[in-house]
Amino acid sequence: MRIGVLGTGYVGLVTGACFAEFGITVTCMDPDAARIDRLNRDDVPFYEPGLAELAAKGRRAGRLSFTTDFARTVDKAQVVFIAVGTPSRPDGSADLSQVDDVARRLGRGLTDYAVVAAKSTVPVGTAARVRDTIRAHQARPVDFDVVSNPEFLREGSAIGDFMRPDRVIIGADSERATAIMKELYRPLYLIETPFIVTGAHTAELIKYASNVFLAAKISFINEIANLCECMDADVQTVAKAMGLDKRIGSKFLHAGPGYGGSCLGKDAAALVHLGDEAGAAMHLAAATIRVNEQQRARMVEKIRDTLNGVRGKTLAFWGLSFKPNTDDLRDSPALSIAARLLKDGCAIRACDPEGLAAARRALPALTGCEDPYDAATGADAVVLATEWNQFRNLDLDRVKSLLRAPVLIDLRNVYDPERVAACGMHYVSVGRPAVGVNPYKTS
Ligand code: UGA
Repeated sequence: MRIGVLGTGYVGLVTGACFAEFGITVTCMDPDAARIDRLNRDDVPFYEPGLAELAAKGRRAGRLSFTTDFARTVDKAQVVFIAVGTPSRPDGSADLSQVDDVARRLGRGLTDYAVVAAKSTVPVGTAARVRDTIRAHQARPVDFDVVSNPEFLREGSAIGDFMRPDRVIIGADSERATAIMKELYRPLYLIETPFIVTGAHTAELIKYASNVFLAAKISFINEIANLCECMDADVQTVAKAMGLDKRIGSKFLHAGPGYGGSCLGKDAAALVHLGDEAGAAMHLAAATIRVNEQQRARMVEKIRDTLNGVRGKTLAFWGLSFKPNTDDLRDSPALSIAARLLKDGCAIRACDPEGLAAARRALPALTGCEDPYDAATGADAVVLATEWNQFRNLDLDRVKSLLRAPVLIDLRNVYDPERVAACGMHYVSVGRPAVGVNPYKTS
């Protein structure tokens, strides 16, 4: 089987490399010639564990190729995936200009029957819009189907998520297209992955509903964390006990600085917009967004309050990416909190295993550091902002000896409060009582 993938962002590249691993011949297309050049040199332009190796393996095997040539990508492809960006407009709606553009080109470029599969997260009704656009741009009638096939992969674990998904969604209204999509995903069918075959509108909504539910879970536990702080209660234990109820589940109940990244926030805004347009207000999604914004502001307040103001002080920042195992800084809570603190007049010594270079381009005032110990050297407190494994088991005695004042503000609840207190440090986390003496509050 031969497929084409339009777009070489996270979704496009992971899709291409993983289908090549399934034994399918894949051509990935992107108009950005410099990006295609890099990919043709096995240089993946972002950090995702295992992806560079998988892409190189596919290329060596002759099953994965990269091109700027649209016609070559769709020629003889049985399935063409649309994996282009759908950024947010200022009003929260999804900007579909890239989707429209590839649909127009597909209208002109399809020479034989193909399934056009939308992988990008798109508003309900987009499959129909793509179908109409393709049709309107065909010089002669060529049969095709448009299906919605949303992707649920997470950055940092994208390959595992693609290879072992919880479910595959196929939103199609033709049996021919459904059969081709099922054939494409046969390796997953064989490992008994559940397949949901439904209409395109339902498939499109499944993606938004899933992402926004996850966002809502995070905002919910963050509000409970804030309440815990007022009640001398421990959010970790509350979340653990809640999660043991199988109806709730333990995932996405980790309190912290709020969600970030390129998906949850964008999709929550898009769902609110969709609901408003349809006359079915999405109150929970709107509240989820508000709580998330407030959570970041609360974290800034927590840091200011702990240090009695940050002006003139130096903070060590551990972690800048929006979550571990990625160099992605899009809507990163760590970065936005750092930016607000810099505005307050402090200095920041930051480290991040993959995201430092891009973070320094975004915030040139950051001082880049080699590692967490280097960052802590001479700082007035440490802020653990992203929970990379590298930060989980540090020598706290050494950290304390490097700091000017023994203060650890852990926005990801990585450390055990008693352990930090036993080292003689003041420890502040999220939704748990602070422990140890705060050197900034003693006089
Ligand atoms: C999210 C979804 O999890 C994927 O299923 C989906 O395919 C993807 O969006 C997408 O639409 O493309 P992703 O944005 O890569 O994936 O990352 P998540 O693991 O969902 O984390 C998002 C944010 O939530 C991160 O900032 C993370 O730190 C935060 N988070 C996550 C919490 O604060 N608490 C939690 O318990 C879990």
